[in-house]
Amino acid sequence: MTYRAEYSKSIEAPEEFWKEKAQDLKWFKAPEKILSKDENGIDRWFADGEMNTAYLALDYHVENGRADTTAIIYDSPVTGQKCKISYLELRDEVAKFAGVLKSQGVEKGDRVVIYMPMIPEAVVAMLAVARLGAIHSVVFGGFAPQELAVRIDDAEPKVIVSASCGIEIAKVIEYKPMLDQAIEKSAHKPDACVILQRPQVEASLVEGRDLDWNEAMASAEPAECVPVKGTDPLYILYTSGTTGKPKGVVRDNGGHAVAMKYSMKAIYNVEAGDVFWAASDVGWVVGHSYIVYGPLLAGCSTIVYEGKPVRTPDAGAFWRVCEEYKAKVLFSAPTAFRAIKKEDPEGELVKNYDLSNLQSVFMAGERLDPPTYHWTMETTGKPVIDHWWQTETGWAICGNMTGIETLPPKAGSATVPISGFNVQILDAEGNELPAGEQGSIAVKLPLPPSCFPTVWGDFERYRSSYLSDYPGYYCSGDGGYKDEDGYVFIMGRTDDVINVAGHRLSTGEMEEIVAGHQAVAECAVIGVNDPLKGQQPIGFVLLKNGVEIDEADLEAELVALVRKEIGAVACFKRAVVVDRLPKTRSGKILRKLMRQISAGEDYAVPSTIDDPTSLSVMEEVMERNGLVGI
Ligand code: COA
Ligand code: AMP
Repeated sequence: MTYRAEYSKSIEAPEEFWKEKAQDLKWFKAPEKILSKDENGIDRWFADGEMNTAYLALDYHVENGRADTTAIIYDSPVTGQKCKISYLELRDEVAKFAGVLKSQGVEKGDRVVIYMPMIPEAVVAMLAVARLGAIHSVVFGGFAPQELAVRIDDAEPKVIVSASCGIEIAKVIEYKPMLDQAIEKSAHKPDACVILQRPQVEASLVEGRDLDWNEAMASAEPAECVPVKGTDPLYILYTSGTTGKPKGVVRDNGGHAVAMKYSMKAIYNVEAGDVFWAASDVGWVVGHSYIVYGPLLAGCSTIVYEGKPVRTPDAGAFWRVCEEYKAKVLFSAPTAFRAIKKEDPEGELVKNYDLSNLQSVFMAGERLDPPTYHWTMETTGKPVIDHWWQTETGWAICGNMTGIETLPPKAGSATVPISGFNVQILDAEGNELPAGEQGSIAVKLPLPPSCFPTVWGDFERYRSSYLSDYPGYYCSGDGGYKDEDGYVFIMGRTDDVINVAGHRLSTGEMEEIVAGHQAVAECAVIGVNDPLKGQQPIGFVLLKNGVEIDEADLEAELVALVRKEIGAVACFKRAVVVDRLPKTRSGKILRKLMRQISAGEDYAVPSTIDDPTSLSVMEEVMERNGLVGI
């Protein structure tokens, strides 16, 4: 099968294509409606199929000769722990934890928030929720209580699952006080919290609300899988939009399982029994799809790594893990490889490890810059595959489908559209642009399985954010172009979303926080290039008239404020005082121009600019602060 034949079929006969792929899963009741419309007029996959994602990820394998196959490899350089959990053991743990949740009243359709570090129990909790037909919402551990509170209020969980702490290299981060603060701040209160006590920290439990994970497990009755419809939600994952309020991306059970299973072979070229390693975090979509669901649906062994690419203990960590567990695929963000390259530029440490089992290195989450692409390929001697995707889709929109036909790579390109994604480049009026011309990247409807059908509790936001700019298309928020061979080049966001160390963040949200400081009249936060993390947010603030404040003190206060409100993960480290911001006559801050100045790019001064001298002022400020041409 060639890529062209596979892709064409998926676009020309999508129902036939995905019906066939769905047959690769054991449904309780096979879907007859392959593609249909929901009450909002949105395309939905497998609406009348009945299934359970946790059953497919665990019980199915136990029943089909893989009971003793390793499901999870846990490797934690920060605690010195390593262990392997078989499919049978994992199934039993999940069934028991589902029993714990059930005893707390969790039923089909209820939400459960999971706020945990990278430990197997996080995976157990996710699958236990899925087993009950309930909906999980995992919140990344690097988010502060306020962010957690916003998600609790939006998802309204019946139960929250957490741990006493996470470990960031040598720093122990206590999770429980953050959870308590979040619940204090939120209007919605969970009925119960289940807390895993880790040996590093003993969390204090709230009488009548908090349960100890181990005690609850000791007396739990295993719970059975609850059948759900293909279109019932499996999870909500919050992601940054352009405003302060994150968007709850909703993922269906059926389409997700079909896309995940298909992608493991078609994109990553792995099969049951292979070891797959996504070096990410369960708090991000990469973690949901390729630490948990994809590998387990395919019967692979997945690595849960509680460590970093560097400093745990050194820049050889990734290669050590690949050798030790014979990983066939390594998947991480370009930032991770830039961090390794910075500490081991000549790739000396790679030479200490046997990477003969490693087939390929996949990257996503941010733009893969050609120097990192070449460095990784040269030091590992393996194919490096860039693929482009979003929380909204749950899997790659563009990539190289190595299990179908590996196409020749081109540095700087995420290769070609993946099956089911009819990717087009549009101009401002919605016309499809020819090869070589840059525009907005959009996907012609219908979107393939796994893509989100709504924003949790806010369909109008879904419609206005993604479907209204170009009727008949999903607007990705990324800009780019296709070349003559149909290769897609992703050039970056067209909105105020930035990517810092592969983490998606909203500059709009940071602006709301910075503007809340009593000395600040107005501000703009933009992402400027960063050699390690891809981008870093920088605040430009205008003081209120008459305010006298030391600029260094103000910067320290703003940095602390953003850290407190969003979390350490925001990486907001710089705030610069300016006496003017470039604006249009109608008062809109010209953030794109500011980004262009910082990137050292040529820019056209718009005719709508209010005060053209504000640009030279901005250039001078950026120059003085070392923010140009990084
Ligand atoms: N819980 C609590 N805090 C966390 C956290 C977590 N799960 N993850 C990150 N943080 C904290 C870090 O400790 C750091 O805190 P600090 O400001 O006190 O030092 C801060 O958030 C910023 O983290 P990060 O941007 O990750 O920087 P870093 O210097 O700790 O690590 C890298 C840099 C490149 C090693 C790291 O970002 C990395 O491994 N990135 C890989 C990308 C990735 O996994 N992307 C996911 C999508 S594929
Ligand atoms: P997230 O939803 O956190 O996965 O972030 C999605 C965003 O990350 C996309 O909209 C892109 O801006 C960016 N992104 C992800 N993968 C890539 C890639 N391979 N190349 C360029 N940008 C990427």
